[in-house]
Amino acid sequence: MLSGAEEANTRIAIDGPAGSGKTTTGKLVATQFGFRFFDTGIMYRAATRMALLQGFALTDEATIVHSIEDGGLEFVFDDAGDVKAFVLGVDETDSLRSPEVDHGVSAVSALPVVRQLMVQMQRDIAGDAQIVMVGRDIGTVVLPDAELKIYLTASAEKRARRRFEQNRSSGIQQNFDEMVSDLKARDVLDSERETSPLRPADDSISVTSDGKSLEEVVDEVVQLVKAAE
Ligand code: DC
Repeated sequence: MLSGAEEANTRIAIDGPAGSGKTTTGKLVATQFGFRFFDTGIMYRAATRMALLQGFALTDEATIVHSIEDGGLEFVFDDAGDVKAFVLGVDETDSLRSPEVDHGVSAVSALPVVRQLMVQMQRDIAGDAQIVMVGRDIGTVVLPDAELKIYLTASAEKRARRRFEQNRSSGIQQNFDEMVSDLKARDVLDSERETSPLRPADDSISVTSDGKSLEEVVDEVVQLVKAAE
């Protein structure tokens, strides 16, 4: 049970497929409750960026793991509460949504030992903080005892449209139809991989953003948080 912002250990897990609005929704919900916000997707993206920068094969688990254990990745909350991703000592936060990283990230996030390292880092980050953590396996694996678990969904077209607009406003040009097919391919990879596949936790509450504005989705999640108090 949640018992107010002053209590320790209020963790809200939001999982769902790519582009379902987890990040935007999660951030706004976290702001309303004064909680921290952490998007675990950036960790797998940063690991992919690290492998690409060093020319590693994205399936070369031992080399990627070695580089992570060597301190190749670091995630730091800045004063505004935003997370900065340092890859090989350089702030790479702004390069994590490039098409190259988009294409490679499913391969890297399917590597079981990489996942083990990430899950441990994610549990350390959540610690006893008040936090909204978003990803694919937060409710099922990372924080199975989270106080509230949301599974956020939307149609592939709506999700691709959202990513398309986000990328366009960051100056990344992509073909919309390609984005829809990339996203569907990523859904298959994410939900069919052996380690921690994307699936709703048994005790999660499903929320769809189809046919709803962002404000309506945020409000629905805020009500769920309050109902859990
Ligand atoms: O949410 P996103 O698109 O930034 O996630 C990038 C990739 O990382 C995506 O292919 C799924 C993977 N991921 C994961 O496997 N587990 C998480 N907790 C978060 C992301």
